[in-house]
Amino acid sequence: MLKGKEIVLGVTGGIAAYKAVELLRLLTKAGANVRVVMTANAMEFIAPLTFQTLSMNPVHTDMFNLISEREISHISLADRADILVIAPATASVIGKIAAGIADDLLSTTVMATRAPVLLAPAMNVNMYQNPLYRENVEKLRRHGFLFVEPVKGMLACGWEGEGKLQDPVFIFEEIVAALSVKDLAGEQVLITAGPTREEIDPVRFLSNHSSGKMGYALAMAAFRRGAAVTLISGPTCLDDPYGVETVRVVTAEEMRSAVLGYFGKSSIAIMTAAVADYRPMTRSGEKIKKKDATNTLQLVKNPDILAELGVMKEDRLLAGFAAETDNLQENAGEKLRRKNLDMIVANDVSSEGAGFAVDTNVVKLLFRDGTVEDLPMMLKSELADIILDRMLYLQRRRDA
Ligand code: CTP
Repeated sequence: MLKGKEIVLGVTGGIAAYKAVELLRLLTKAGANVRVVMTANAMEFIAPLTFQTLSMNPVHTDMFNLISEREISHISLADRADILVIAPATASVIGKIAAGIADDLLSTTVMATRAPVLLAPAMNVNMYQNPLYRENVEKLRRHGFLFVEPVKGMLACGWEGEGKLQDPVFIFEEIVAALSVKDLAGEQVLITAGPTREEIDPVRFLSNHSSGKMGYALAMAAFRRGAAVTLISGPTCLDDPYGVETVRVVTAEEMRSAVLGYFGKSSIAIMTAAVADYRPMTRSGEKIKKKDATNTLQLVKNPDILAELGVMKEDRLLAGFAAETDNLQENAGEKLRRKNLDMIVANDVSSEGAGFAVDTNVVKLLFRDGTVEDLPMMLKSELADIILDRMLYLQRRRDA
């Protein structure tokens, strides 16, 4: 995901400095080449050797270190970087940058770079609320600096409140987003994901194997690419994706009303949810006892959400998924026409590396004009970007 990207990770002196280690791991795992710059105070909290070992690069600590200066100066650090991230960023370093002070390697590199700079502040709650700090942040935002806001929590100083470094996973997401092309800026993307759950009684339900992974991958990719994203999710074990408005529902009927509430303002809708086609005709308020149970469960049909959207879509772009075990192309093509879709993603859920609960998928993309695109097995995160590329292509072709 970050293959070939050059990232400068600045670490300043706060107790959260140890969390920069986790961020470094996430970045290198995603393929980035990371060069760590530490301030003198940061080295009071954590040893450079940790960063050096994990980044497989020398750690830069000193403005005037002749050996490392010969290898790489603050200017070449600044020039090479695709992004400069400071995590944690203390109130002091933020103040320094806002004032245009460049008196150590990190602040000089920030001053010299033309790359985007992302700051992840961490500090005591009173410092965070200090008007001088707030003014500095405002000023930096005006100049295009990016921020990952800290969160509320128990702070190392004993106070409780805002000032805790954001979770490194979310800082990572912001870095990826900052490095992504914002080709979906201005789009409102609506995505459904996961299964629905139809209750029989308080302990039993009808559902399916959908994990929600494909829909969540799409939501994350659309956010990175600049869209405002709403994810309507059935019950899954996945965390709400960062930067995405996530609405949790349980039943098909709840999913339908949530989707209809958001569809009006959407420009692109992609329905990946495995909606249960049927629900029990009645839901028992008490657990059904064996002695009272009959052998048949009376079912009624659930609304077909996607088909309803197809009727009211107007100029919105609409895509669905078809989970099939046989006659893939034929069945998916029929759904594309019947539900009035612009594209359908057909996956043979019985084939290896495809379908539910795995991280990969093997699909065919079917379009209104009869075109079929056969895609090889790939990660759901990669497929998410291809699906969004195709939606954008369809939109541009329509608007041309
Ligand atoms: N879908 C939906 N509402 C339903 C059923 C399906 O919105 N009640 C959507 C799914 O989110 C998916 C597409 O329709 O995008 C196709 O779902 P799928 O389960 O493959 O097809 P069905 O229309 O349910 O047909 P069948 O079960 O007969 O294959």
